[in-house]
Amino acid sequence: MSLKKVSAEQPKQFEFSSNFKKIAEEIIKRYPEKNKKSAVMPLLYLAQKQNSNWIPLAAIKYISKYLSMPYINVYEVATFYSMFNLSPVGKYFIQVCTTTPCLIRGADKIVKICKQKISEKENSISKNGECSWTEVECLGACVNAPMMQINEDYYEDLDEKSAAKIIESIFQDKILKPGSYRGRKNTSPENLKKIEGTKHA
Ligand code: FES
Repeated sequence: MSLKKVSAEQPKQFEFSSNFKKIAEEIIKRYPEKNKKSAVMPLLYLAQKQNSNWIPLAAIKYISKYLSMPYINVYEVATFYSMFNLSPVGKYFIQVCTTTPCLIRGADKIVKICKQKISEKENSISKNGECSWTEVECLGACVNAPMMQINEDYYEDLDEKSAAKIIESIFQDKILKPGSYRGRKNTSPENLKKIEGTKHA
């Protein structure tokens, strides 16, 4: 679960920066004028991105005005979907998949590393205020299990050692390469070259 609890501490104001405003306008153009409220989810996502991974109530209010929608309708969307955080999660938000395929491939060990390195309890910010972790349901990368998502990137084929290395590096503000940590290309089998060699032998 993501942090669905609405933060007790809220900024008074929110406004898209000029860059994000441009992106918002581009998104709105994808919809007929009369259906511009269909842009509510990408705009909430944009607000979350601008605001260090969480959506304050001021942003919900701002988007409701931006799309001429009742505040409650935007609030309902923001509180319903698990990808929207309503409390601070830190600059680096780690989501560890613990659904069955990841679990039988060692997701519990990734959770253990998160507890050791970030915070004992999920949904708690690390001591340096930069990072938090949470368990989530399937993120659609089961073939590369176990995996975790950091902000927008997927880190796959993990074990305790690789997960620890990735987390330690973000504490130094260094983002390691996403993708497979067993050297696979996308979802192709391991030792692909060897397999292809056998096929053509
Ligand atoms: S079960 Fe973990 S990504 Fe699907």
